[in-house]
Formats: sequence, C-alpha cells, structure tokens
Amino acid sequence: MYYPEELVEEVRSRNDIVDVISGYVKLKRQGNSYVGLCPFHNEKSPSFSVSQDKQVYYCFGCGAGGNVFTFLKEYENYSFPEALQVLAQRCGMELPREEYSPEAKRQADRKSLLLQIHKEAAVHYYQLLKQEGGRQAWEYLRGRGLSQETIRRFGLGYSSKYSNELYQFLKKKAYSDELLKESGLIQMDEQRGAYDKFWNRVMFPIMDRNHRVIGFGGRVMGDAKPKYLNSPETPLFDKSRNLYGLNLAKSSRKSNMIICEGYMDVIALHQAGFSQAVASLGTALTEQQCLLLKRYTNEVLITYDSDEAGTKAALRAIPLLKEAGLSARVINMKPYKDPDEFIKNLGVEAFQERMDQASSSFLFEVEVLERSYDLGDPARKTEFFEETARKLLAFTEELERNNYIEAIAKQYGIGYQTLKQLVERRGMALGGVPPVSRPRQSAGRKKERPDGLENAQRLICTWLISDEGMAAAIRRYLKPEEFTEGIYRQVAEKLYEQLDHGSCNPAAVISHFTDTEEQRQVAAMFHTSLKQEGTRAETEKALQEAIRRVKQNSLAAAIEQLDSADMAGLQRLVAKKRELERLHISLD
Ligand code: UTP
Ligand code: MN
Repeated sequence: MYYPEELVEEVRSRNDIVDVISGYVKLKRQGNSYVGLCPFHNEKSPSFSVSQDKQVYYCFGCGAGGNVFTFLKEYENYSFPEALQVLAQRCGMELPREEYSPEAKRQADRKSLLLQIHKEAAVHYYQLLKQEGGRQAWEYLRGRGLSQETIRRFGLGYSSKYSNELYQFLKKKAYSDELLKESGLIQMDEQRGAYDKFWNRVMFPIMDRNHRVIGFGGRVMGDAKPKYLNSPETPLFDKSRNLYGLNLAKSSRKSNMIICEGYMDVIALHQAGFSQAVASLGTALTEQQCLLLKRYTNEVLITYDSDEAGTKAALRAIPLLKEAGLSARVINMKPYKDPDEFIKNLGVEAFQERMDQASSSFLFEVEVLERSYDLGDPARKTEFFEETARKLLAFTEELERNNYIEAIAKQYGIGYQTLKQLVERRGMALGGVPPVSRPRQSAGRKKERPDGLENAQRLICTWLISDEGMAAAIRRYLKPEEFTEGIYRQVAEKLYEQLDHGSCNPAAVISHFTDTEEQRQVAAMFHTSLKQEGTRAETEKALQEAIRRVKQNSLAAAIEQLDSADMAGLQRLVAKKRELERLHISLD
C-alpha cells in the first residue's frame, strides 16, 4: 500500500506527539519540552525529551529519536503502515485497509510483506496440523499433555514431510523468491533450488507483543538432533528484543512475570494458569528484554533449568534484571529439570508453592556460591563467609544490607552480629569503597570521524530549526548542496524548502525517511547543541566555525572529484578557496 506524502503528514500533524508518548511514558513539562525516563534504555534520571514545537522526541542518553511514527515503530514494533493505521484511527481518520493484490505487493514495504508471509505460513502450518498428514504431530502434542485449546491459543502447527511444501504454497501467493529467502522460511541454493527451512517438525510460531508472527521454532518429534530449529534473524525477527509468550503474558494481570528457558515451558505454565510466563528465545537474556519486562512488572521470577547451564544463565540474568529496575527471585525446581516436567510430576499447587518460596536473587547467588565451598572444612567455611560478606557490601543502603545479613545469618547458622562485624571490617579494609558497577553496554552506535564535520552539520541543522536569526544567517552563507552527500544534504534540502515556504517542520522531515535508524539520525541532527551556551559573540564564533567547516569540506570534495586535466575548473575552485579564506561570516 502506498500512502501519499500529504496523507502521511496529515495523520502525523493530527496526532500530537506529547499526547501519544504520554500514553507510554510518564512525561513532565520542563521549559519548552517534556522529559521522562527513556523507554529505550535503562536510566535513573530522565534524558528522554519530547518537544511539542518540533513534534520530535530525542534521548540524550542513548540517541533514540524520531517523530511520532518512529516512536510507535520502535516501541510497538509496528511497521510503518501499521503505525499509520493506528494513528489514523486515533484521530478518527479513515485509511484504506491494506490488501495484498499483486500490485500492492510490489508497492508495500518489505517489513509488511514479511509479516504477511509469516502470517500465511503460521495459518498454513496450523491447518496442516489438523489434517491427516499432521496426525503424528497432533498426537505428539497431545501426548505431551497439551489441550486442544492450548494448541489453538499458541497457534501450534506442523511443517510437512515434503521439503518444499511451504515454498510451493507461498509461491502460489505470488511472493518473490527474494522476499521468501529474506523471510528465513525458505532457503535457496543452486543445486537444490528452493526448499523449506522447516519440515516434518512441530511448529511454534513466535509472536511479538502485538500478536504478529515474526519467526518460528520447530521441534523434531523424536530424539533427532538438532531438537529445535529456529528462524534466523531477519528484518522482523530480532531475538534480543522479543520474548516468547509476551503477547499473552502482557495481559495476564499478575503481579510478576515468570521467565523460563523454553517454548514448552511457557506453554505448560500457561496451561497450568501461570499466564505470566515468557521465555527468552534460546539465547541469554538481554538488556532490551529486561526493559520489555519492566513495562509490565516490577518483579521477575526466574525458572531456568535446574542444571548447571540453567544456573549459570540465571546468575547472568540477575544483574541485567536489576539494572532494569526489576527485582528478581529464583524458583527452585529440583528434582525436576524444568517447569514443564515439574508441573507434570508434582502439579500446579506444588509449583505455586515453589513460587512463593522462591529465593531472592541475592540468596540464590549465595546458595550457588556455597556449592563451591566445603562448609565442613573450617578454613573453607571462613572463606565462604568472607566472600559472602564482600557480596553483602554491594548493598549500599544500610537497612537493606542489614536485612540481608539477617537472612544469611539465619540460613547459615552464624550470629547476626558476627556476620555484621565481618561485613563492616571488610568494608573498612576496602576503604568504604562502593562496589564497582557493571560497565554500561554501549548501544553499539557507529563512531564518527573526529574531524568535527558531522557535528558541524548537525549543529547547523539544529540552528536552522530552532532560531530564525541563525537560520537566516546560515542560509546567506550556505547552500544545501554544500552539505555532505546523503542524509545531511537531504535534510538540508528539505529544511531550506520549508523555510522558503515559511517555517520549519522537523517532524515532516523525519517522515521523509523510512528507515528507523535514519529517522534516529535525523532526530539527533535536530538536538545538537554547543557544549556551553555562551554570549552572542561566542555563538557567532561557533557559527562561523561550523559554516567554514562545511564549506571547506565541500570544496575539498569538489577538488577531489575534479578531472586532473580540467585546468579551468581547478582555477575556479582555487579562487573559491581564497574567497572562503576572506569570507566574513556574521550573524547580522
Ligand atoms: P530445552 O532443551 O530445555 O527445551 O531448551 P524444552 O523447551 O524443554 O523442550 P522439550 O521440553 O524437550 O520439548 C530450551 C530452549 O532452548 C532452545 C529452544 O528455544 C528451547 O525451547 N533450543 C533448545 C534451541 O533453540 N535449539 C535446540 O536444539 C535446543
Ligand atoms: Mn522441556
């Protein structure tokens, strides 16, 4: 579906960004803008800013930014057409519904088409499960104790014995080979041609939090290896940003969330009534997943496998959960391996009991620590308490620390005072140093060249949209084509065009880009400021430097591109260079 620019702009302008974002983030007015805690990274003090004038948001902490469409795409994982539909509905506008005629397929954006492919595949697998050919798979699932209702709820399915059955099915629906390959559901090579990624497996559709299928897991029905195959990462499927079962768990209305390891664990837990269960997708829990959980709860119960790998995974998950502001407890499932087996053997009430008894994450860490010490040996026992005391120092709040000292003292039969003194002595020995905090993960953004060119261009764009006097001066000295090719020049062209017609509309400039990463870059270009606010003379100096920097670069680029035989051209550029050296740039 193609939407004309004017329509997009109308929908955008009728949805005030502050209103929309307020539905997700608590915002407080501060000067010209609204600020709050950034929903895209962990933070304790607000660096997320939403501007009502510009209709743009930007986080000074992690660089997330864009207009109201970008926000919904990033927060809700919507494709652009979906964000548009939602916002149109919100302001009472009627948009044509998306339909996928062959013509529409050529025009729709990739993400929408990939979603459509996944939806069709999921329905298809589900139907195969119900047919005669899927009988074995159906019996397998029923044999594992799943009710018909559970199978329906999770949309479980079956991929057929024929290795290109799905390909044939999707081909009839006129999807291109290229797109099918990108979906990850179809593989292609020269010898075999096109064949399905999954065949003869029980299929688990993986949905994002808005119930859209974004990938699959497929399990063999016996003991063959690998037990599970999973969709590869695709433009739809980012394992680090999704949790299996979250689409259902998010509306469970329970006071906590349960995080476990596998598909079957989630399904078994939901069937047993623990509809707040989710699983990370066969990989270690990530910061983004913790943030997702934090949207819905303050407490997470970990029920990873009770083996060594599961214990390690829990130890790794705890600091991440804490960092996201979640408290964590760990459920002990021994003697069983995972919640699925536990419930099958001991039942729902027993699991509820284990939930109630779950250890705080700190006690769990100490319990794990204990396993590496032989407490029968006095020397080792002393070492264990020394180490525990060191861990207790991590609590900087005295009350909290004392509560944990009490709990540990009780559990390990050591006097409260004795342990407290041990902790205090260790603290003294360390000079009362607070514990080292985990280094923050950088958001993995590209490092820019240190020549100041990009910063100069960003600064200029920010001035263009926020200060009429500066904008007028900039436009006297700088033409859009002097900006570097690509995103900077495109933005400059748009802004100049808007200024020609009156005033700037930064949010509309952002709409001009389709990729969220580009939208984020443009938002950053509207939020660059001088290190220090200075006097008018200082600002003028900064302006001169920035304009000069851009002009120099533009000249250098022109010289580089020049044909070495073009003497006249060279002379012209040299003259321009001299002109630039003499150019006086002023604010008035
Ligand atoms: P488990 O082996 O614990 O799977 O792996 P499970 O969910 O308990 O499966 P059942 O009960 O044997 O059917 C936990 C998770 O790790 C991922 C899957 O997401 C699985 O649910 N995994 C496991 C894979 O991706 N590939 C594998 O080969 C195995
Ligand atoms: Mn299992």
